[in-house]
Amino acid sequence: MERNRVFNEAQSPIRKEEISARLHTALLGKPLLVLDQIDSTNRYAFRLAQEGARDGTAILADTQTAGQGRMGRRFQSASGRGIYLSLLLRPGWPLSQAFYFTAMTAVAVCDGLEASCGLRPQIKWPNDLLVDGKKLCGILTELKTAPDGTLAYLVAGIGLNVGQKSAGEFEDDIQSKAISLSMLLGRPIQREPVAAALLNAMDAMYARYFTGRREYLARYRKDSCTIGREILLARPGSGAQTAAKALDVDDRFALVVRYPDGRQEAISSGEISIR
Ligand code: BTN
Repeated sequence: MERNRVFNEAQSPIRKEEISARLHTALLGKPLLVLDQIDSTNRYAFRLAQEGARDGTAILADTQTAGQGRMGRRFQSASGRGIYLSLLLRPGWPLSQAFYFTAMTAVAVCDGLEASCGLRPQIKWPNDLLVDGKKLCGILTELKTAPDGTLAYLVAGIGLNVGQKSAGEFEDDIQSKAISLSMLLGRPIQREPVAAALLNAMDAMYARYFTGRREYLARYRKDSCTIGREILLARPGSGAQTAAKALDVDDRFALVVRYPDGRQEAISSGEISIR
């Protein structure tokens, strides 16, 4: 795609070479596509997948006109302010294995941020990354199944707030809930080293998806800001919220909760707010 937009200093386009030079991945980012603008890097990854794009294809965009969040929400993707990254993976796993992927990705993104910025967010189950209770990064994993029900491919989308200098740069609805790397570190942040660190950490996670599971689970639990908290739980497709206490994350990354009547349940999908 032609890079013909005008950027001011704070919004210089992502430089592909500055990322490539820092990559030590076995698989991810080969190829690495860096775009000025796209509707959604996840949607684009799906389109490329239909055309046969290979396992490990990574797509980054300076801005998204229709960035997608979980539960059908929109993901604010201001120009030059974030890392909007999607990975197309064709792992050939049984479908059941794919359900751990988002949680493992949350840990990998924490690893990448720690390596590149010295900052390790907390994980709000299932996969929001927070610092000081505010959202720094969201993850959206989408699966495509083959007609026989097996996993055809998956697309992992990572949206990281980087360059917003103050809360006022976010749109009204998330101003009080969102934070960026620049706000946290009090200085401008170059996106390329961070993007490379995310790709390196994701590559390490992908390579050790089975052998490293226990370590990732241990880090997930350690990074969790959910375990031990009183929460409101919303199940997919239900507007209703249920009060519960989050007790633990089990070996399948499900959230073990206890309801006020004493019943316990392991929840594998849904959304929570911390009370
Ligand atoms: C969420 O917090 O609800 C998930 C947000 C995921 C946003 C990323 S940005 C890159 C990729 N492309 C999208 O359209 N969404 C994901």
